[in-house]
Amino acid sequence: MSNRFENGFNGRVAVVTGGGTGMGRELVRQLAADGCDVAACDVIAENLADTVAMCAADGSRGEVFTAIADVSDEAQVLEFRDAVAKWRPHVNLLFNNAGIGGGGSIIDNDRTEWDKTFAVCWFGVYYNTLAFLPQLLKSDVGHVVNTSSVNGFWASLGPDISHTAYSSAKFAVKGFTEALITDFALNAPHLHASVVMPGHIGTSIVINSGKILGRDPKEMTEDQLSQIRERIARRGLDMSDVSDEDLRVGMQAQAEAFRDVAPVSAAQAATVILEAVKRDEWRILVGADAVALDTMIRAEPENAYTPDFFTRLRADGIFGFTG
Ligand SMILES: NC(=O)c1ccc[n+]([C@@H]2O[C@H](COP(=O)([O-])OP(=O)(O)OC[C@H]3O[C@@H](n4cnc5c(N)ncnc54)[C@H](O)[C@@H]3O)[C@@H](O)[C@H]2O)c1
Repeated sequence: MSNRFENGFNGRVAVVTGGGTGMGRELVRQLAADGCDVAACDVIAENLADTVAMCAADGSRGEVFTAIADVSDEAQVLEFRDAVAKWRPHVNLLFNNAGIGGGGSIIDNDRTEWDKTFAVCWFGVYYNTLAFLPQLLKSDVGHVVNTSSVNGFWASLGPDISHTAYSSAKFAVKGFTEALITDFALNAPHLHASVVMPGHIGTSIVINSGKILGRDPKEMTEDQLSQIRERIARRGLDMSDVSDEDLRVGMQAQAEAFRDVAPVSAAQAATVILEAVKRDEWRILVGADAVALDTMIRAEPENAYTPDFFTRLRADGIFGFTG
């Protein structure tokens, strides 16, 4: 077997959090197709079952093990870890992929949503890294791959929308992963770490986050709808002719458009991530939008949160999606 993963993942063992849809599902499929045994967790059971069915239909060479586990709950993470340990004694690859979007404003949003978003996106990464360390340490070669975001180096979705919980968590994931590089080099040199920073990838993250955070447009309460009306009105848009039903339909259409109009698919993103791990790269930008934004932030950091910076990004066709 090769020293690291340059020849692929055949015969290795991987753990993928959030393997039910999106990039997590595609990581599971591509790893399993390559002959890697994969353990995946998620909180949405039917999506996880679909991932397993897809791997079977793909004729995967690797085995797939699944469990329901909420990455923001340490007891559930430890239960998942113990189940994986019974299945396979060591782990070579840990993909901390699960994430949700929410908790926009620290002033205007309720704290429950803020805390949940931060807990999934940050504590999910921390709990799983801690939990699976013993199995990673037992492996001959190991790699921790943590998914941050472009919001791990740019804490914004533009000047008209607050984005505090998600950005804080994704900055934490990026800092933690970069610090792991040296920690692993000093204390467990067979382990390496990579941080993934995707731009806009076509997934159901807006739909799934809505379901998980109790704001699925189809089921939103009148209070939730009127709060959204207020926010839109504050941006100067007249909402008087828009019915509640129109608002629900509009939000659902936006969530679907996020998935359907993206420049990079979830499958393409998973391939970019796995190819970068094979090349042993620690810094994985996914998508031309992520690369362009990274370049712009480095060139003019002081301007990053000005309306003009965002206007120029949009003019370059980056983050044209307004959801
Ligand atoms: N889609 C994008 O444009 C984009 C951009 C940058 C970063 N990301 C990040 O990429 C990662 C994957 O997201 P995606 O776009 O594939 O979204 P997705 O919603 O398709 O996949 C995320 C998966 O995580 C699961 N999940 C959510 N909360 C969980 C929890 N508490 N415990 C276990 N599983 C949970 C969801 O059910 C879902 O199956 C996330 O960390 C996200 O923040 C996505």
